[in-house]
Amino acid sequence: MEVDLFMLVVLGTAITAAVSSSPNLYRTVRKNGFHRELFTKIFIPTSLIDAKCECLIEEQFPPGLYIDPYELKNYREKGGPQFDSPAVDIEKPKELSPNLVFIIYPQQFTAIGPEYVTNVTVPVHIRYHQPSSRYDTVQIQLKNPRLYLLCQGKQLFI
Ligand SMILES: *[C@@H]1O[C@H](CO)[C@@H](O)[C@H](O)[C@H]1NC(C)=O
Repeated sequence: MEVDLFMLVVLGTAITAAVSSSPNLYRTVRKNGFHRELFTKIFIPTSLIDAKCECLIEEQFPPGLYIDPYELKNYREKGGPQFDSPAVDIEKPKELSPNLVFIIYPQQFTAIGPEYVTNVTVPVHIRYHQPSSRYDTVQIQLKNPRLYLLCQGKQLFI
């Protein structure tokens, strides 16, 4: 019997120098100012899944950060990832904005030594904040993403 299985993998942020026996995530933000690029690279030991598994990333952004779905659509036409986005009001300041959940579909895994690896880059933007007499800077904390794996015909546990 064919089994379609969605698995939720909870990732910790780690730079994988040595090969580990659990999934790993490497993230970095490129560029400066209000307009950045979020780079995410995923490493999963080949012993845990097979090459045909597909993955999706669920990102929960705090109110201070957003992805512009129109920009991501243009980006997609130039080879960027497929995605699902809620409606995003890009004009609103952080204080009037909700958390946003985006689904990003990275490319298929490539086997590199003992791991399956994939990466994805998305443009992200920092929202304007309302003026404050108390703070010169603000900190925006991005949660680790959730990674879901869809593997066919095989029952897997991570
Ligand atoms: C990201 O993935 C692409 C396609 O597999 C690959 O060509 C590229 O080298 C990867 N980039 C990094 C920084 O790992």
